[in-house]
Amino acid sequence: MKSMKDIIIGQMEKGPEIMNEGAVAKKIGKDIITEKNKTDRIVRSIHTESLNLIVSEIHQVTSDAKAIRFVSADGYLPVFEAGQYVNIFTEINGVRTSRPYSISSSPKQRGYYEICVARIPTGFVSDFFLDKVKVGDKFEANGPQGVFRFNPVFHYKKSVFLAGGSGITPFMSMTREILESGADREIYLIFGARKAELAIFHKELSAMAELHPNFHYHLVLSESDSECNFRKGFIDAKCIKDIVGEIEGSTFYMCGPPVMTDFCAKALEELNIRPKDIRREMFGARQDIQNEPGWPSNLTGDEVFKLKIGDKVIDAKSSESLLISLERAGVRVNVCCRSGECSLCRVKLVSGNVFLARGVWARHADEKFGYIHSCKAYPSSDVEIEF
Ligand SMILES: Cc1cc2nc3c(=O)[nH]c(=O)nc-3n(C[C@H](O)[C@H](O)[C@H](O)COP(=O)(O)OP(=O)(O)OC[C@H]3O[C@@H](n4cnc5c(N)ncnc54)[C@H](O)[C@@H]3O)c2cc1C
Ligand code: FES
Repeated sequence: MKSMKDIIIGQMEKGPEIMNEGAVAKKIGKDIITEKNKTDRIVRSIHTESLNLIVSEIHQVTSDAKAIRFVSADGYLPVFEAGQYVNIFTEINGVRTSRPYSISSSPKQRGYYEICVARIPTGFVSDFFLDKVKVGDKFEANGPQGVFRFNPVFHYKKSVFLAGGSGITPFMSMTREILESGADREIYLIFGARKAELAIFHKELSAMAELHPNFHYHLVLSESDSECNFRKGFIDAKCIKDIVGEIEGSTFYMCGPPVMTDFCAKALEELNIRPKDIRREMFGARQDIQNEPGWPSNLTGDEVFKLKIGDKVIDAKSSESLLISLERAGVRVNVCCRSGECSLCRVKLVSGNVFLARGVWARHADEKFGYIHSCKAYPSSDVEIEF
């Protein structure tokens, strides 16, 4: 019995010829139609939309941070590039939300992905990861994603990594990859932390520096006593110059809290580093958004406005992104980076005013047609949006 596909092709002008070619292809080679599902499966496994992860190990790395390893529930973890992140979904107190975490393990081993979560003062998801999550727990995630990547083809041979706090994680992945591969590259990792005991992966990084002469690791402490052997202060222009020496021919990478990367960006400007030689990770929205340049001077951050979406009206605090308010109210929004980069969370601003935080990759069409990134938009009046 002929299939519907065979009947339709048979009625076409060159149908019989096409069917003959198809039959020959099936006999001697691969038929594109029968292979299509297989190809789709392979493409999906590389560019995965959704991952099912199981916590396999948890290690306390400092008093305030844990490394958490995940294996795949489906038996396969997609490839990634050192520097990329996974966005992990959770449900906490009935609120479904997500947070991106940079992968700290090397892309060269894919038995597990390791992330490292640091506690932050008013943390919501970070507290949950540090206090509640245990081996065997299951999570949905998307990724690996992100453009903050180590690129051995286009970047200079000398890499200068400027890390602050939990911003060490993508550099851990990059350093592990470079050193494991034995690549002919020079790495300078300058890591700013408050105290040595709070510096994530400090012991492992020190051991790696002892083993590999091309890896130069320097801890810079902002709160240190006079006894300590580490450099004191902040990662400023002098500190970078003293450690790196000849800065010509280097690619600079920055990752850490926005206050730290803003500070380092000024230092790189002082050193006349060209913007094209600088990579900066957007490590999420700042918690003290009221201190962001351009924040409306008439707002304190405590105001509660009305946010209308369809026939639903919800409360929206001025210091919380529209995305957070929507999640609190149980409205599902597509998300990934939560830092203005991936564009998944875009909504149309129908009326009202919002404060847009820095770092949004808005397209010309977004601006023209009134689309905003809800992860970076803060209400400064009652607002109406639509998807
Ligand atoms: C690309 C990228 C990579 C990152 N990698 C890392 C990493 O490797 N390690 C790391 O530690 N961090 C990393 N981060 C930061 C991380 O994603 C989180 O922002 C961080 O863990 C803090 O999350 P949090 O929920 O504790 O705090 P926040 O994200 O600051 O969220 C706290 C906010 O949650 C909201 N909230 C509070 N209660 C509720 C509630 N009941 N319902 C809904 N919302 C509520 C409030 O608005 C509160 O201000 C990365 C961020 C990005 C963008
Ligand atoms: S979630 Fe990626 S831009 Fe908002």
